[in-house]
Amino acid sequence: MKTLLRIDTSIRTDGSHTRVLADYFAARWLEDHPDGRVVRRCLASDPVPHLSNAMFEAFQQGRGQSPDCALSDDLIDELKGADHVLIGSPLYNLTLPSTLKAYFDHVVRADATFEVRAGNYRGLLDGRGATLIAARGGLASPECADDFQTAYLKAILAFIGIGPVALVAVAGTALGGEAKEQALADARQQVDRLFGKAQAPLWHGEFSADDKRQIGALRDGQAAAIVSGDARAYAELCADDIQLLIPNRDAICGQAGFLAAEEALFRSAVFAAFRKQPLRVERSGSLAVETGRQEVVMAKQDAAGGVFSARQKYTHVFRLTEKGWRFAVLMSNPSE
Ligand SMILES: Cc1cc2nc3c(=O)[nH]c(=O)nc-3n(C[C@H](O)[C@H](O)[C@H](O)COP(=O)(O)O)c2cc1C
Repeated sequence: MKTLLRIDTSIRTDGSHTRVLADYFAARWLEDHPDGRVVRRCLASDPVPHLSNAMFEAFQQGRGQSPDCALSDDLIDELKGADHVLIGSPLYNLTLPSTLKAYFDHVVRADATFEVRAGNYRGLLDGRGATLIAARGGLASPECADDFQTAYLKAILAFIGIGPVALVAVAGTALGGEAKEQALADARQQVDRLFGKAQAPLWHGEFSADDKRQIGALRDGQAAAIVSGDARAYAELCADDIQLLIPNRDAICGQAGFLAAEEALFRSAVFAAFRKQPLRVERSGSLAVETGRQEVVMAKQDAAGGVFSARQKYTHVFRLTEKGWRFAVLMSNPSE
């Protein structure tokens, strides 16, 4: 039976973004591990005391040798019993909650969770990864200069051998309104990606069920046309004035040019896979802009040959024409 150790640190029990996202993560994790169990530790309602000198000296005596290291023994046993560690951690005054720092002072312990060998430190809790849900009120990337928690948490987890550490970042929680909802939705998508779940994009604006179906069919049709090398089928998904914008290549405008370009592409390469992950679609009148990520795997047909794969960000514009929704602009950015 797999165990998820969930550590909450937000001082809020209501309205806490890290807790809401940790709930979401735990639910996804239990879907993947139906027989699993979630062990919870809340450092806000049940904080560990600051490390004292008596406790630290008891560390040297070894496990079970002194009541002063009983708490450390228990916390380390709990960590060792976990297959994955989930930490919800808000940014407080530029860094991690002090309760979480106090926790690490009890579990980072020589010859229990790390050792020194030939002058090198080695973490002893390998074999388990972690997910860090990091929230902050301001709008900034979690690893920007005024965030002294994310890098620290990754470093201290690595120090005791825990890794890889996945980061789910939610910024702008203090903004309220749509910005906050967007930040939470983005963070849920980050969680979904960790579990490899295909997600529906976020739809902004008025889309009927039929609009969504048609746009989904365009994506499916595009993937099918590319993998089967059918330039004509691909062109039929496009508006008459389709624009194809690829970095370092001349822009292509109009159906005829698009068809010729795709025919040339399919002569030079065979696509083994074309996978898209749409993230967001926003409608403005008869136009809809979609952003997402795509992955292509192709075998070049020229003398050099070779199989290539690339992950790209894309932006597509759909237009509602008299034939229904069609691609109007296809743009992809260089590989990430
Ligand atoms: C004491 C305190 C200090 C905070 N310091 C910062 C900060 O330095 N930078 C920031 O962007 N947000 C800061 N915030 C906002 C929190 O990071 C934000 O509200 C976050 O969503 C809290 O996590 P929670 O929603 O899980 O409770 C602070 C909040 C509190 C209560």
